Amino acid sequence: MPGTCVVGLQWGDEAKGKIVDLLGDQFDFVVRFNGGANAGHTVVANGKTFKLSLLPTGVIRKNVFSVIGNGVVVYPPRFLEEVDTLRAGGIDVSGSLSLSDHAHVIFPYHMEEERLAESDSEGKIGTTGRGIGPCYQDKVGRRFGIRVGELLHPAHLRDRLNYIVPMKNRLIAAFANGHVDALKPLDAGRIADEYLGHAERIKPFIADTSRMLQEAFAAGKRVLFEAAQGSLLDVDHGTYPYVTSSSSLPSGIWGGAGVPAKNVQRIIGVVKAYTTRVGQGPFPTELLDDTGERIRKVGREYGTVTGRPRRVGWFDAVAVRYTAALAGADEITIMLLDVLSGLPELKLCTTYEIDGHRTNHFPSDSFQLERCKPVYESMPGWSEDLTAVRRLTDLPTAARRYLDRVAELAGLKVSVVSVGPDRAQTILA
Ligand code: IMP
Repeated sequence: MPGTCVVGLQWGDEAKGKIVDLLGDQFDFVVRFNGGANAGHTVVANGKTFKLSLLPTGVIRKNVFSVIGNGVVVYPPRFLEEVDTLRAGGIDVSGSLSLSDHAHVIFPYHMEEERLAESDSEGKIGTTGRGIGPCYQDKVGRRFGIRVGELLHPAHLRDRLNYIVPMKNRLIAAFANGHVDALKPLDAGRIADEYLGHAERIKPFIADTSRMLQEAFAAGKRVLFEAAQGSLLDVDHGTYPYVTSSSSLPSGIWGGAGVPAKNVQRIIGVVKAYTTRVGQGPFPTELLDDTGERIRKVGREYGTVTGRPRRVGWFDAVAVRYTAALAGADEITIMLLDVLSGLPELKLCTTYEIDGHRTNHFPSDSFQLERCKPVYESMPGWSEDLTAVRRLTDLPTAARRYLDRVAELAGLKVSVVSVGPDRAQTILA
């Protein structure tokens, strides 16, 4: 049974959670393979709204087993907080959620390293402040990384922290260099006590999830992979260095879940009908005017994790063609179309101009992308409210034309159009 991946083709926040929710009944497993508690998603279950950032969206589904793969970085207090919040809301995930023993653990020194790095205006990336980048640095650097499975071995964990924490204290002090409020040196013993306490509660969730998923595929189970963040934030192919620290394209599945790529045969690319991004970095179609402000307000474009206002811009077909090709997207779903109602004119970026030359190529190096000017095609808008529309044929002509043109520019068929946050506010194309 082939696997499916839902992946955002922009800079994240494409409302992937809604697509996962719509597909929920068609799957036995829902898997996260990258990122950490930087991926905010709002889910509604039992008439209650839950804000999750680490657990997979699928966790609220009955009869779906959720997996946090080895490619994810985990802050244990956050993991337990989300499990507790769900339990308080009537959803018990014990028995339906596993956490890879090879996922890496975020410690307080990661948060501190990030705070210091982000306080330097020149090197600032605009991160979510959840310790994601420093934890991945330690994973790849190998000397200071600690995996979830190690939390289950108290003497070993204490030894590791007794080595790591003094090193981190020295690094942090050197990094702060008297310029930023210095944090009191961290205490290895206290961190070990705290994390061993978390480990007691996390223990029942810890598993070899890679083997679990391989067995699931062998047994013909249906597996859905949720890519966190968006393709343009992928550490290799995104707008480097203004990216996250993991592989947010489907290419991350093999490494981040231990599932061979050939098992994933349907790739659903998710885009907004416009573009948003949070944090620093170039954004060719950004709108810094009243139109941008209006889209931000109507689309409620404020970060789920940090509450920051998202930067807003027109749909960028150059970027989406680039990510759709990298992701191997078979289809796209277009989200938040209703937000564009009432705008007299809509613009679509079809190509870039760089140094007086037109190009269809997306330069993912930020220093190059900064020089690109968007070339727009203008389309008439529509005034009608779309939130009650359920069929393509009931959309205003201008909205149909807009969708058709987006599909044509992306070179993909549209499978779903979303016209509101509710599950019912969906058009199956
Ligand atoms: P980090 O992932 O916290 O290191 O942040 C790196 C960049 O990715 C920043 O620009 C963040 O705002 C952005 N980012 C991380 N996670 C998300 C997400 O889920 N949605 C949108 N942007 C994100």
